[in-house]
Amino acid sequence: MKHKLVVIILSVVCCPLSALHAQTPVYLDPSKDIEARVEDALKRMTLAEKIDVIHAQSKFSSAGVKRLGMPDFWTDDGPHGVRPDVLWDEWEQAGQTNDSCVAFPALTCLAATWNPDAAKAYGHALGEEALYRGKGMILGPGVNIYRTPLGGRNFEYMGEDPYLTSQIVVPYVQGLQSCGVASCVKHYCLNNDEEYRHQVNVIISDRALHEIYLPGFEAAVKEGKAWGVMGAYNLYKDEHNCHNQYTLNKILKHDWGFDGVLVSDWGGAHDLDQAVKNGLDMEFGTWTDGLTMGATNAYDNYFLSKQYQKAILEGKYTTKELDEKVRRVLRLFFRTTMNKQRPYGFLCSESHYEVAQRVAAEGIVLLQNEGNVLPIKPQGKKILVVGENAIKMMTVGGGSSSLKAQHEISPLQGLQMRLGAPIDYARGYVGDVSGNYNGVSTGQDLKDDRSPEVLIAEAVEKAKTADYVIIFGGLNKSDYQDCEGHDRKTMDLPYNQDKLITAIAAVNKNTIYVNISGNAVSMPWRKQVPAIVQGWFLGSEAGIGLADVLLGKINPSGHLPFTWYENLGQVGAHSFGEAAFPGIWREGKKVIDEEYKEGIYVGYRWTDKHKLKPTFAFGHGLSYTTFKVSNLKALGTVTADGNMTFMVDVTNTGSIEGSDVVQLYITDVKSSVDRPAKELKAFQKVTLKPGETKSVTLKTDKRALSFWDEASENWKAEPGDFIAQAGDASDRLTCKAKFTLK
Ligand code: GLC
Repeated sequence: MKHKLVVIILSVVCCPLSALHAQTPVYLDPSKDIEARVEDALKRMTLAEKIDVIHAQSKFSSAGVKRLGMPDFWTDDGPHGVRPDVLWDEWEQAGQTNDSCVAFPALTCLAATWNPDAAKAYGHALGEEALYRGKGMILGPGVNIYRTPLGGRNFEYMGEDPYLTSQIVVPYVQGLQSCGVASCVKHYCLNNDEEYRHQVNVIISDRALHEIYLPGFEAAVKEGKAWGVMGAYNLYKDEHNCHNQYTLNKILKHDWGFDGVLVSDWGGAHDLDQAVKNGLDMEFGTWTDGLTMGATNAYDNYFLSKQYQKAILEGKYTTKELDEKVRRVLRLFFRTTMNKQRPYGFLCSESHYEVAQRVAAEGIVLLQNEGNVLPIKPQGKKILVVGENAIKMMTVGGGSSSLKAQHEISPLQGLQMRLGAPIDYARGYVGDVSGNYNGVSTGQDLKDDRSPEVLIAEAVEKAKTADYVIIFGGLNKSDYQDCEGHDRKTMDLPYNQDKLITAIAAVNKNTIYVNISGNAVSMPWRKQVPAIVQGWFLGSEAGIGLADVLLGKINPSGHLPFTWYENLGQVGAHSFGEAAFPGIWREGKKVIDEEYKEGIYVGYRWTDKHKLKPTFAFGHGLSYTTFKVSNLKALGTVTADGNMTFMVDVTNTGSIEGSDVVQLYITDVKSSVDRPAKELKAFQKVTLKPGETKSVTLKTDKRALSFWDEASENWKAEPGDFIAQAGDASDRLTCKAKFTLK
């Protein structure tokens, strides 16, 4: 009897437990559909908890819902690597000893690889670093279009062409998010220059908006399934892009079906009613009443904080908009911090350095190589390295993308490591000797008080007896160079470099100039310098990537993601006076109107239209071998749904293995609107052994034939003849094929 009684008691006592177990709340049950989890969690949250999750609680974090077991949410910069942790409410780094990261190459270099597989590997490696560091969202990648070579943050973006940008951003987002870390594609939208980024109101045609500036974001959202998008500081149609009825509610969320979170840029929210109604989901960086400077730890003052809660309690708003924001934040939680299927993270693993090194070498662009000076044959030869950019660390500085790298191999170090011998060096010029950003120090002492004349004389003297001179010059990450918050004032090289380069080229016929920058620079001495290389900001493995290309261990295969203009006279944005760049201030100097008068004619679209010959064309990139692109054929006719397939042969006509980027440009022979002479609509990188030929298949869809029709507010492909051209640069198209859209 007693035994039976015990069994009955146990079953009663245990039953609720087992029953309880069977009743795991839906929102905590990973087997349940994410939308069901969202609705279940939403139902359980109080008003205060809903308000908590839609705004920052610290510089880079927002609250979870501890009562329901949802952890706080941590974001971090940036697109090239995971920023060091900062103090709770400061930009200053916290001085941790466990957050030194791999610095991956800048995104302009990634775009220059023209290799979507490289972009996926890049995103995945960055995702593993972010996971290890406990970040649920990386504030990147940036896909703003390179409208002007003066743009301070072009180095963080993917060049001038919307199609190339869309093909590189999608795999990056997929790679990153495969780790359960959200991307936050930025800065949406029309944030194409820096000087007045908080005040500029962009005026632009619908065609230019949809054909040039939105496709990178649209692809990231529709194909990449980005979980986050960051609003831009600037205004469009007189509303800031962090809460903008047209760009956020209509285009991003309604037209594109974006189901993720729209995060403000830091300090980008300026108005409660707009923040509530115009598409903002998570408010970051607002310090007080919408200013970026002001009271610290003022998170309760945020628009989407106590102000919003009070307005709801006073009946000014229902919880309709609030619940929509919270649904998106909960979806973000279930995709990241609450996602139990996430893989493990790793920091500074060999695989990450391998990606950084591979992308660095693959993105380097051989611009010119007269007399095949490159690759260098170092045996028994005296090499002189010149220039501050041969020794200066570039991973510190430049704004929010600044990093605390575990190491950064400089160009000089990389050459010495690969040659196993010391190399003679001359400073050549002195540029930016600082080396500190938000408390991260390079530890370098670059001070040098010698005059420019003395510096140049020393370099020239040494160059006279060297077999090769490699000058590392270009820009750096200081203000008014490649740096957030300001734009360059000129395309010219700073710090007297033109004089230095000209003087050295005059005494040494094997002068090689390597430009380290995220932007094009003027090169008045170009005809006196046989070899020119675009070196980008290459991150931790910079010196290795450069040495491997310069010494021929790796055959360069980078192609320019932007037009290398001769000067600003060749740039659409600079061809219509102040109104087009940087804009005209309104009365009271609170807003500056910047009208994109060049419209869709950005980059090669502009130089084609005006028959201008840039220094180097969009898509240009040489190799240590040679290639032939031939025999382009349009297979059949355009299908009913507008798809078209092409075949083209690429041959390695040289003596060493190499990779080429075959590019396909489409021309609409006759259309009811003005259209560019040609537009990039397909490409593929192909590796070939000497003498090998590969037939490459390239596909286009109806969108590739379409323009944005402003009347119908939709894409439109008009029946008629089209021409496809193929080659390995926009100014090296060697075969064509006609086809017709019925
Ligand atoms: C900055 C940048 C943005 C960055 C954010 C956080 O102002 O515009 O790209 O992610 O603030 O640092």
